[in-house]
Amino acid sequence: MAPNGSDPMSLDDTAEQAHCRRTAALAVELGRRAGVAVEPLAQAALLHHSLEPLRHSSGLGRLAWQVLCGDDQRRIADIVQVCNLVDEQMEALEFEYKEVETIFEEIQSFAAFEEFDPALVEQLREMRCREFPRELKLPVEGGAARLVCHTLRTHRECENRELEVIALRDPVLASSLLNVANSALYGRAQRVSTVSRAIATVGVIAARKVMLAAAMRPLFASAGLQRIWGHSLSSAPLWSALAGHTGLLSAEEGLVLGLVHDIGAVAVQFLPRETLTTHRNLVEGGCPASYVERLLLGRDHGEIGAGLIAEWHFPEEFIDAVRFHHQPERSTSKLASMAYLAEFWSGLGEDLPSFGRVEACLARVDITLETLMEMGSQDSTLRMLKAVA
Ligand SMILES: [Fe+2]
Ligand SMILES: [Fe+2]
Ligand SMILES: [Fe+2]
Repeated sequence: MAPNGSDPMSLDDTAEQAHCRRTAALAVELGRRAGVAVEPLAQAALLHHSLEPLRHSSGLGRLAWQVLCGDDQRRIADIVQVCNLVDEQMEALEFEYKEVETIFEEIQSFAAFEEFDPALVEQLREMRCREFPRELKLPVEGGAARLVCHTLRTHRECENRELEVIALRDPVLASSLLNVANSALYGRAQRVSTVSRAIATVGVIAARKVMLAAAMRPLFASAGLQRIWGHSLSSAPLWSALAGHTGLLSAEEGLVLGLVHDIGAVAVQFLPRETLTTHRNLVEGGCPASYVERLLLGRDHGEIGAGLIAEWHFPEEFIDAVRFHHQPERSTSKLASMAYLAEFWSGLGEDLPSFGRVEACLARVDITLETLMEMGSQDSTLRMLKAVA
């Protein structure tokens, strides 16, 4: 589990407890649609591993089940069973990828044998977002991000004057450079007031990083995604270090990838209100964001973000790494594995924890867990980027 403590699942949760919490969150959402009282339903789902034997027992055990569930006991049992199956299938996606619709069809096909109401699967389908556009446009122009990334990528040896020309075209870039140069980090007695002086103060390499971060920030700010932006900014140095260490990208390109990897999360802000409420309820109930996105939208923010950066003409390997940064086994690229590791170490509990994936990705990019941990604890770039935040 990632060491970052802002995870909706408590670090004390065992895998089984986490499964029961997700089953309960799903059951409550489904129960609302099926007209079943949600409190006993949530209790029955949370305790379903201990209650299930009681339900089939005679005597006191059976009585306890009846007291908890009251008149709705049959419906509650059905809903818990369906949601349990959904969560088991979602957990299994790391071993065998399936479309969510395929998962629903399979669960529906179990109905006769398992003796639950197949109409519940139909109600699960209705929870999904049908109006979400295939192609998403961002609410702000990604021009500054595209220009900085493109220029820095094609002119790897970009010098002071070239950086100045780019920065002067955009007040956000220029003011970010001035902010950093005048921050306590550089301890200057006199204020820096020109872009060229700012670049000379922080150095070309740091200036490039500051400009990249400054170019990306408005994209997140426009959608009110400060939390995701903070995560992107604080994890970008690890992406950069991993890229340089593995040789898969330059350190600077790694930084760009880190800054942009969760851009697809912007999409969630544009869900229809009803879906947004379901999304929020499920996340607050303990379902990781990527899990909820797959369930409700059929794809996670990595897949959505890949579509966005493709429009900005990012290189193919970037697009693939963003697309599969939560599902590295679906990519043939080592960069997706590197992206998974960076996300694992610094993520916000964005997906189900998977040590199998971590092990496979470490082996693919040929680093050890100790190396990953060591790189994750370096924060010299972070301090500089925080001056942009
Ligand atoms: Fe279960
Ligand atoms: Fe992510
Ligand atoms: Fe992330």
